[in-house]
Amino acid sequence: MTSTVPETQPTTPDPLDLEAVDALEFWVGNALQAAHFYRTAWGFDLIAYAGPETGVRDKASYVLQQGKLRIVVTSSLREGTEISRHVARHGDGVKDIALRVADAAAAYEEAVRRGAVPDKAPHEEKDDNGVIRKASIAAYGETVHTFVERRDYSGVHAPGYEPRSTVADPLPPVGLLDFDHSVANVELNRMNMWVEFYEKVLGFSLIQGFTDEDISTEYSALMSKVVSDGEGRIKFPINEPAPGKKKSQVDEYLDFYNGPGLQHMAINTDDIISSVEALTARGIEFMRVPDTYYEDLKDRFADLDLDIERLRKHGILADRDDEGYLLQIFSRMNQDRPTVFFELIERHGSRGFGNGNFKALFIALEREQERRGNL
Ligand code: FE2
Repeated sequence: MTSTVPETQPTTPDPLDLEAVDALEFWVGNALQAAHFYRTAWGFDLIAYAGPETGVRDKASYVLQQGKLRIVVTSSLREGTEISRHVARHGDGVKDIALRVADAAAAYEEAVRRGAVPDKAPHEEKDDNGVIRKASIAAYGETVHTFVERRDYSGVHAPGYEPRSTVADPLPPVGLLDFDHSVANVELNRMNMWVEFYEKVLGFSLIQGFTDEDISTEYSALMSKVVSDGEGRIKFPINEPAPGKKKSQVDEYLDFYNGPGLQHMAINTDDIISSVEALTARGIEFMRVPDTYYEDLKDRFADLDLDIERLRKHGILADRDDEGYLLQIFSRMNQDRPTVFFELIERHGSRGFGNGNFKALFIALEREQERRGNL
């Protein structure tokens, strides 16, 4: 008699099991000044530098770290380079959302086999601290995902970089901990294509979707879907504009970024009030919603011991779902173009994105859009 129980197959690890977001690399007009902004205003520590002094001839890069979150700001030293062309077209923005993997070449080959467009073939970078292996695939717009394999490297960041230590920061710490999610803005009717890309190529799952009914004001609307890796560590909401009476915030982004790109990165904190106080003292400004928002909040959070008055004072938003609640706040733009900004998020059980706040927030965003003459 044959058994109907299937034999256990030895499971080979998926080469696209992602360990974490390795770093976000911004391509900017002036990395020296951008590094100063992310250090002084956002409270990051400078940990490494690459440039002419370290043998890199055509660009300068500064590596900044806070908690587990790492960002790199890079600018070109010459005209006509890929970086200077990118900056002329998009302004300062995120070029690379790098993903840490166990085997960069295997991750790349599997991603390309599943339909990813190659960007950079697998290659090695070496110095006295070992070897880093990398390979990149194209994502939305000119954004790429570089697979980074660090297991044989013991240096601070990567070959070509030398360690740098920040002078003691005299200001109170900001307390940012880790990457929570990053949001892509893509063109009308392209959201589903990018959701499929993350599902098919990186094995992500669709975890939430919002229609223009959920995310609309009197004037403008957008649609959003959220994809996440199996562990729920890496979450990428993807927005597209929806038709409205006036220009959507996504349209304004696409107009000024000249195409799709990263709109905001959300960063975890376990004490958002202290983080906002520290950042405000350092000169960071945040989006404000109308005070009436907090009247509604008192009703929505009547059974929870939340100091709504303190949230109001700092402009912090709150939202809840079946699993818990979250606190969040959005910064103003990180550069002159209305493109990239940061979000701070303090989660208490909720794995959501603050959909209950979208409307209040969009009214606030539209007010800023109007001030810029872009609504
Ligand atoms: Fe967000």
